Amino acid sequence: MPHRPYIVGNWKMNGVRAMLAEARAIDRAAARYPDVQVALAPPFTLIGTLREAVTAMGIGGQDCHAQAKGAHTGDVSAPMLVDTGADFVILGHSERRKDHAEGDALVQAKADAALSAGLGVIVCVGETLDERDAGKAVAVVAGQVDGSLPAGEGAGDAVAAGKVSVAYEPVWAIGTGRVAAVEDVVTMHAAIRERLLALYGEAGAKVRILYGGSVNAGNAAELLAAEGVGGALVGGASLTAEAFLPIVAAAGTGEA
Ligand code: 13P
Repeated sequence: MPHRPYIVGNWKMNGVRAMLAEARAIDRAAARYPDVQVALAPPFTLIGTLREAVTAMGIGGQDCHAQAKGAHTGDVSAPMLVDTGADFVILGHSERRKDHAEGDALVQAKADAALSAGLGVIVCVGETLDERDAGKAVAVVAGQVDGSLPAGEGAGDAVAAGKVSVAYEPVWAIGTGRVAAVEDVVTMHAAIRERLLALYGEAGAKVRILYGGSVNAGNAAELLAAEGVGGALVGGASLTAEAFLPIVAAAGTGEA
């Protein structure tokens, strides 16, 4: 793996303060794997609390608005995420694309806003089962990469600085227990890399491409060892230290 592996837990709409103990346990373990970059994206309500509670891992948001401030009831901006202690944000997750009708252009605007605020970004892409069955998976994902990755002033520098990641999450693999076949993941990650190099030139090699979709202790080692897989974006198995730590361990060698 050319980059330091990046293992990110996406807590989605899960997590109250009672779960702080899990985050602390994950953080203690993260400190034992300095060769792995570990991060959690809790709901907005826990970002500040987690920031205070952990030392070794990154803390991020799961969305941000494209504007810095203003009359957008219920939304949270990138500078607000920074203010509460986040260092990155997940954008364009398929659940947001579906639940909130987010399209590529909006995701791109959010990514540009997040980079301007100084956040790292993880832009999610992935095809539906219908699209895969129709043989369109690579074309759909390539289109999402072209349309959703940051394109504003400073995007190239942020990419070169390693602040931009892509998560390939086939929609049909999310929360279903169905994992994409390793050879399909390898093919897709190569297609994504090709688009990144086309978009950013050689700096495109600095973008980590994570796999997401039913990653767990049993399949993490094989997925993480696959060509072009720079880490994992983990949903359900990131909610407890017991489930998440074997995935971190699979990514690194640790000190012990
Ligand atoms: P699961 O790991 O629960 O399938 O979720 C994946 C995901 O959507 C992470 O963003």
